[in-house]
Amino acid sequence: MERVMRDFFLFLSKNRPMTKVAKQYGLRFGAARFVAGETVEQAVESIQFLNKEGLCVTLDCLGEFVDNEKEAGEMTELCIEAVQAIGAHKLDSQLSLKLTSMGLDLSEEVALENMRRIMDAAVENNVFVTIDMEDYERCQKTLNLFKQLKGEYENIGTVIQAYLYRTEGDIADLNSYSPNLRLVKGAYKESHEVAFPEKKEVDDNFKKIIKAHLLNGNYTAIATHDDQIIEYTKNLVKEHAISNDQFEFQMLYGICEERQRDLHNQGYKMRVYMPFGTDWYGYFMRRLAERPANVAFVARGIFNK
Ligand code: FDA
Repeated sequence: MERVMRDFFLFLSKNRPMTKVAKQYGLRFGAARFVAGETVEQAVESIQFLNKEGLCVTLDCLGEFVDNEKEAGEMTELCIEAVQAIGAHKLDSQLSLKLTSMGLDLSEEVALENMRRIMDAAVENNVFVTIDMEDYERCQKTLNLFKQLKGEYENIGTVIQAYLYRTEGDIADLNSYSPNLRLVKGAYKESHEVAFPEKKEVDDNFKKIIKAHLLNGNYTAIATHDDQIIEYTKNLVKEHAISNDQFEFQMLYGICEERQRDLHNQGYKMRVYMPFGTDWYGYFMRRLAERPANVAFVARGIFNK
């Protein structure tokens, strides 16, 4: 049943018409639990709140599907505005974004040009930028663009997903770039031909790539709410005397908040991935897919309206 629910919500997450409709109606159905607001101003307030508690942030400009260069340009402007707000308010925050919202599906050139504009603003404001990883179809294109941009800018990283078979090879291939990578399990619906079908296999591969990337001497963001992965990392860094400056934990806004504070209080760097914007639908559906218990929470949100 859990797998059916998961597949259902992942199917919904790719529905373009629903994405458009959702944009017009504002944060609904309990989405505000996972999304910090719709405007840069609201995001700034939420970051300030977390920064005061000692948590750092990566601000995610929500956006996935764009239909034309104009929309990709608007998303680019929003990211630039976010980067400038981080700089102006001296926030402890990075930026995260998706290449599809920069126009990747229109052409790699469009996405690259938009990324260069964002990266110029990011350099000016001393903000680190992470390119989120999307579905398998876009994985190689994302890595190609990341490599190109990494040759031009220092302050850029990307994401590697433990559920893909190719991942171990990608970690080895990227090593020559000494990249700052966020490692995750993976959030999209992928076929058994490209991704491990069983949770245990994904978890084992996750541990394998955490170890490889850390022992290669690279900065590593371990992005998970899974206690056994977090404990594994703590033991690994202790065993290999890896400094706390070489890694951080990351979790999603609104999820396992107590755990986020615990890790910070234990002396680990803890970064919260904070989405904001009007394009919340796909992100919200993936959060529901990860944990069917969230659906009950949503149902309460609908009936309490
Ligand atoms: P797992 O799914 O095994 O969950 C472990 C426990 O965490 C659950 O038992 C539950 O208690 C809690 N939990 C997990 N998800 C929850 C939810 N939605 N609601 C409530 N509780 C939940 N993926 C991707 O493909 N590309 C990307 O760029 C990113 N970026 C990213 C950034 C950050 C900071 C995080 C934390 C995650 C991502 N992801 C991602 C998502 C990632 O791939 C994965 O889908 C989720 O993190 C859930 O997997 P966990 O590692 O938390 O483990």
